[in-house]
Amino acid sequence: MNKKTVKYGIIGCGVISDWHARAISEIENAEFLGVTDVVEAARKSFAEKYGVKAYDTVDALVADPELDTVCICTPSGLHAPLAIRAANAGKHIVVEKPMAITETEIKDVLDACEKRNVKMSVVSQLRFTRAVSETKKAVDDGALGKIVIADLSMKYFRSQEYYDKGGWRGTWKMDGGGALMNQGIHGIDIMQYIMGPVKSVSAFTRTLARKIEVEDTAVAILEFENGALGKIVGTTSVYPGSARRLEICGDRGMITLEENKITCWEVEGRDLPEDLKDKGSSSGTHNDPTSFDISGHVMQLTDMTDAIISGRMPAINQFDGKKPVEIILAIYESAETGKTVML
Ligand SMILES: NC(=O)c1ccc[n+]([C@@H]2O[C@H](COP(=O)([O-])OP(=O)(O)OC[C@H]3O[C@@H](n4cnc5c(N)ncnc54)[C@H](O)[C@@H]3O)[C@@H](O)[C@H]2O)c1
Repeated sequence: MNKKTVKYGIIGCGVISDWHARAISEIENAEFLGVTDVVEAARKSFAEKYGVKAYDTVDALVADPELDTVCICTPSGLHAPLAIRAANAGKHIVVEKPMAITETEIKDVLDACEKRNVKMSVVSQLRFTRAVSETKKAVDDGALGKIVIADLSMKYFRSQEYYDKGGWRGTWKMDGGGALMNQGIHGIDIMQYIMGPVKSVSAFTRTLARKIEVEDTAVAILEFENGALGKIVGTTSVYPGSARRLEICGDRGMITLEENKITCWEVEGRDLPEDLKDKGSSSGTHNDPTSFDISGHVMQLTDMTDAIISGRMPAINQFDGKKPVEIILAIYESAETGKTVML
């Protein structure tokens, strides 16, 4: 692409769209053109706040020839259909997690992006943190020796009001799942990014404390292709909740990540880099869904902007974005059938 500026539009003017709008505004080679939302008041006030166009419909937004890229910030059940509409209009796509909520949708999104030769970046902002990249590097370099266990704990608190207010939250059709498909997907993505492919899952899910269709609690046992075993504990129903904790343990060392802070680094022959000592924050979204800054979205959208300008694949593309969804869908299948599911 022989262009110096990438022009963005946003679909959906709710909570997360502000992170996208502010991130785009911070990127030198990016320009924020406009927004749309099914709710007229929402699109108008958001457009006014950022001084951009308010398109009346999704079709009007994706038809704008000036626009290069669309950020999809709607309820999760609309991600795939809107991504396909954007791709068919020849627009590149930044889609919030999860990229899609069924296997069929994943395939349709992959096909649409390939057919129209458009790029997709699937939001998983934590991957851009130094804490995650240093942990991955230590594992990839073999610094922890043979990896034995990966232990992921996500004990969150979301009130009944949180589910009731959103309307779409906690429904199969629009959320695609609960504690794992909505909140837990961040931790599951980091876990599989560091550990590599999952071979099989055995799981239980329950709806224990909230009046919702989907699970508010899940436990899964995993087998990774590298031979290690893993455990995922995810819930949105414990008060007051605690920071997401991922522990990667090998026969020569172990690392613990609490949110985006490394709280344990016991690695034979490799010190924790100076700039990570006492850095990062172990407070997170476990009891406040908006308690995170825009730095991750800035890095992800900077990567997408650069990918479009230089013609390369984005760092977290559709092939990466589908992996945590496939693990979560396998967990749901195992919980439903009572059988171990192979991926
Ligand atoms: N990356 C993160 O850390 C993070 C954090 C929060 C939410 N999310 C994801 O972002 C997405 C949105 O979450 P949210 O909390 O902002 O939801 P929200 O309910 O606050 O906002 C969704 C907006 O989409 C609009 N909308 C609904 N249908 C539409 C349509 N057909 N066309 C245009 N607009 C439509 C709604 O009117 C609403 O304004 C979810 O998929 C969620 O998983 C990601």
